[in-house]
Amino acid sequence: MALIYGVFFVFPIGGADMPVVISLLNSFTGLAAAFGGFLYNNQVMLTGGILVGSAGTILTLAMCKAMNRPLSNVIFGAFGAGAAGGAAASVTGSIKDISITDLAILMNYSKKVIIVPGYGLAVAQAQHVIHELEKILEERGVDVKYAIHPVAGRMPGHMNVLLAESNVSYDKLVEMEEINPDFVNTDVVLVVGANDVVNPAAKTDPSSPIYGMPILDVENAKNIVINKRSMNAGYAGIDNLLFYHPKNSMLFGDAKDVLTKLVNELKQM
Ligand code: TAP
Repeated sequence: MALIYGVFFVFPIGGADMPVVISLLNSFTGLAAAFGGFLYNNQVMLTGGILVGSAGTILTLAMCKAMNRPLSNVIFGAFGAGAAGGAAASVTGSIKDISITDLAILMNYSKKVIIVPGYGLAVAQAQHVIHELEKILEERGVDVKYAIHPVAGRMPGHMNVLLAESNVSYDKLVEMEEINPDFVNTDVVLVVGANDVVNPAAKTDPSSPIYGMPILDVENAKNIVINKRSMNAGYAGIDNLLFYHPKNSMLFGDAKDVLTKLVNELKQM
């Protein structure tokens, strides 16, 4: 019965909501252990259970808060494929793209660059090459920072862990609330494999499933460059108005390939 209940509980939940559900189930194991400790009068079990249960609960609620979605919506409403909270308004307009050479020139002569990493950076395993890009720009006197959105990627701290793997200095990773006012003074924002966390629909379109989710205010920067492979949607399954923004240029391609070419181009300058 427990097995059947477990399968039916998890089955309808959207694939990318799994980190939230894993954290919730983790908190349940803690609670179960705490009740066990209570029943068997085992204080170690009771304390351990309370710690695991409370940590899991706090993490679950923190993730839901960062996505601006109630826990009930994560558990009972599949989000992916645009299933949650109604469809967003469709987006039309023209996009422009930028060549790697033009981007290299733009970045080389910038004073301040902010990199916005997202899920696509992890997919492409481009964390090492992005660190190389950061080092080259820093050597040329450009101030480079990473803007870290709390739910960028697919698990809590995904971007922090990914960038730590390539030895990016911790003081270069700036949390959303802290970096948002800095975009106004930024010459170039390079968005790499991120989509929902920079989607202005979260602020402007009440019909959007991500409406109300805090996002990175990249549109305040002087130039925006978005790297992704296509015009496909991200996790929330919705179009992104930012792609059509007059300040924005698209740099299509796999993040690792494109960044490797960009680094090579910069080395030749
Ligand atoms: P997403 O909105 O999912 O967008 C990622 C983008 O990366 C996609 O649009 C994709 O576009 C691009 N991409 C994929 N592979 C790539 C590659 N090899 N090279 C370049 N680009 C690539 O990611 P995000 O902005 O990080 O937002 C995270 C989303 O996940 C949020 O909606 C959040 O609510 C949700 N979520 C997060 C968590 C946690 S705790 N982090 C947990 C559950 C859900 P193309 O296919 O066109 O390349």
